[in-house]
Formats: sequence, structure tokens, C-alpha cells
Amino acid sequence: MPISPHDLSQLAAPGSEEECLLRQIDPGRLPRHVAIIMDGNGRWARRRRLPRVAGHRAGIAAVRDAVETSARLGLQVLTLYAFSQENWKRPRAEVDTLMELLKEYVRKELGTLMDNGIRFRVIGRSGELSDSVRGEIERALEATGRNDGMVFNIALSYGGRAEIVDACRALLREGASPEALGEEDLARHLYTAGQPDPDLLIRTSGEMRVSNFLLWQIAYAEIWVTSTLWPDFRRKHLFEAILDYQRRERRYGGIEPQPQSGPASLARN
Ligand code: FPP
Repeated sequence: MPISPHDLSQLAAPGSEEECLLRQIDPGRLPRHVAIIMDGNGRWARRRRLPRVAGHRAGIAAVRDAVETSARLGLQVLTLYAFSQENWKRPRAEVDTLMELLKEYVRKELGTLMDNGIRFRVIGRSGELSDSVRGEIERALEATGRNDGMVFNIALSYGGRAEIVDACRALLREGASPEALGEEDLARHLYTAGQPDPDLLIRTSGEMRVSNFLLWQIAYAEIWVTSTLWPDFRRKHLFEAILDYQRRERRYGGIEPQPQSGPASLARN
């Protein structure tokens, strides 16, 4: 099924490289869930002899583009790794700037999230965030809670191992029986409960690591790594990643390729 001219014009200028890539994407086999490890902000800044926080600030434009593009493309879920549990070890000033940028993003982008029908979610130990960050997040959760478009998860104070520990704690509190326990029971208690697992995991800046991100959920994800630094990441790169994903053969441990299930809908405008 070709992408409709209306959807094309929303996402790419006629004759552009983006349009050429977009035309090759099969909208019937989109990844349902794309997860991104946004990396390289510090290096982007260093190359310009700027302070590290300038890289984080520049990264916001890439966040905006990835969120809008994913929603318009019709993805079910986009998850961005914004702040790991390990990131608390960074200098206080850098952590504070990241938190301020996050609040600013949520405040400024709420209108765009609403216009695109996006449901905003936060995954991670949000209790570790400051009251002011939580307040801003609460407002966005409340405002977007009844939207029915793409789910946009921001991973904040997130750790994949911590998430599994939190799920185990919830199971123990429920009095789960060890003999009856299955994978679905654990999945039901993950921060992403009810969402499809990522089909595609993207990492920018060339590092070949998963960095404690969605450890349970990426069991069968296709991984795509680009040397592009996060502040330079744009929809063209997302289209390249999706095209590469659509060329892969997914066998889930079997010997026959399995269908790549994805929503056929090319979404809202
Ligand atoms: C990794 O680059 C990036 C981060 C730790 C933070 C990502 C945050 C943003 C893009 C801005 C705020 C996010 C949202 C969702 C509004 P790094 O600093 O580790 O880069 P380096 O490896 O080059 O040093």
C-alpha cells in the first residue's frame, strides 16, 4: 500500500531526500514500537567547543522532530531514553539543566502533543524526580490522558534492571505463586505493561551498547545504530532506520521468517 499523497506532504517536502525515503516505506509493516537511546549530546557540544549542556539543548529539536514524525507516521509507541538512573552521577549542574530542559519541553510542546493526539507517559522511578518536575509531568499526563494516538514514553530516572526488580516486588506483594508464575505475569508489572515490545531499537552516536534500556522488552528487537549524534538526528534518519528494519528477516528463534506486524494506518494529520 503506497503512502497517501496527503501523508507524504505532511512529512516530507516534494522532491526531498525525505520524500524519496518515505515512498519506500511499507506502511503496512511499520514497527509498532520504536525505542531510541539518544546519545552523543556531549560530543556534539565538544566538537563546537561549547559546554555539554548546549548539546542537550540542541537535542530538544531532535526530540521534537522524532515525536511528531513518529505520530504522523502512525507508530503505536515511541520511547525515548532521556535520563537513566546512572545519569544521577553526572555533575549537579548538568542534571539540573537536563531537568529544566525537560520541564521546558513538556510545557512548550503540550499543544503539539494534543494536536497530534499523543498520549504522554513517563517510565522509570519517577518518585526520584523533584516535585517541580513531577508537577510538570502530571499536568501533561492529565492533559493527554484521553488522547487516542501514539503513546510517547519518556524514560526518566530509568533503569532496565530496576524495572525488573520493581515488577518482582509488585508480584511478591500480590502473593504470586512461584510455580504458577509466567513471563506474562512479569510483563504485566513492567512500566510498559499493555504496550507492544519495541520492534526497533535505535541508538545514535555509534556506541554498540544497550545501556540498561528496556532489558526485558528488547528481547527480539531489531537494533539499528547510526554514527549521527543525537542533536543531528532528524526524520530522514528515522526513515532510514525503518527501511532497514523492513528489510530484516525476523525469526524469533525459529527457522521461518515471521510477519512483521504493524498498523496499516498512516495516521492523523
Ligand atoms: C546522552 O548524551 C543524552 C542524555 C543523557 C540526555 C538526553 C536528553 C535530551 C536529548 C534533552 C532532554 C530530553 C527530552 C525528552 C526533552 P551524552 O551526554 O551522554 O553524550 P556523550 O556520550 O557524547 O557525552
